[in-house]
Amino acid sequence: MFEAILFVHNLVRWAVLAFGLLALWRFRAREGAFFAHTLTLQVVLGILLAFVSPLFQGALANLEATMQTPGEARYFVAEHWVGGLVALGLAHAGLSQARKGRPQARIFFALALALLILSIPWFRPLLRL
Ligand code: HEM
Repeated sequence: MFEAILFVHNLVRWAVLAFGLLALWRFRAREGAFFAHTLTLQVVLGILLAFVSPLFQGALANLEATMQTPGEARYFVAEHWVGGLVALGLAHAGLSQARKGRPQARIFFALALALLILSIPWFRPLLRL
């Protein structure tokens, strides 16, 4: 189960980034919806992953030590998901603006995409084949 969700979470990241770029280019409701909804799926997958990940659960079980030691465990417990959640809010705010035909949509999509790029663990495999 863990490997399957990790595989999909890894792969969906590329769809999120592609739809993010598309939404930035054509900041209309259709493109914005692809971005915001794929990102919602990714966040749901991430939350499921946190429940089944040995790394995440091990880090939670020993939270004090995890927080005192810089590294992968602390990154996933304290940083990775925060960026993902804020980006989700920004993408949905952008979608709401795009649905009203407002050009500010583009700013929200740009901020969401920038935050995502910063929040992705690029030190992990780019694809899990
Ligand atoms: C609430 C939001 C999120 C949560 C709770 C979450 C959770 C996690 C966890 C627990 C892992 C590591 C699992 C492990 O190795 O044991 C992980 C890895 C990863 N996450 Fe997330 N994530 C979230 C959002 C996102 C978003 C928005 C993206 C990108 C668009 C993303 C991309 C990735 C990638 C690329 C990996 C590495 C996968 C691999 O090693 O193959 N995550 N995430």
